[in-house]
Amino acid sequence: MDDQELLRRANEARKLAYAPYSGFAVGAALLCADGTVFTGVNIENASFGPSICAERTAFFKAISEGHRDFVKLAVTCDQAYCQPCGVCRQVMIEHAPDLEILMGNPSGEFKRTTIRELLPEAFSSDALSKP
Ligand code: THU
Repeated sequence: MDDQELLRRANEARKLAYAPYSGFAVGAALLCADGTVFTGVNIENASFGPSICAERTAFFKAISEGHRDFVKLAVTCDQAYCQPCGVCRQVMIEHAPDLEILMGNPSGEFKRTTIRELLPEAFSSDALSKP
């Protein structure tokens, strides 16, 4: 799975976003170590609070189907480039501390980064084990 194909999958998924309140559609494609790809979209709600981002949708789909080993995430929206929100970054560092991230747009352009770069000095379970 090359980078362009993963971005293409994210852009394809983006068409399925449910974003009637913000009008801001986001698509994600998460590559697992075994080559499986899980896509995700943002799903909003009239009550706003229950809304979920595309990145977390992809992660929760994958985890709930038994996948635990993640390599790369492509995320796209109508801006250059689509930057994951803070809540999604916290989810990513928990489940994929070595994750590579492609922040893309509908034209297929992207910026490459990592979750460690996007969330330095992250809160983690290490803190919980200290007295
Ligand atoms: N959104 C995402 O899906 N991912 C992000 O990382 C940033 C924001 C969604 C949430 C909401 O449905 C819309 O974009 C506007 O914030």
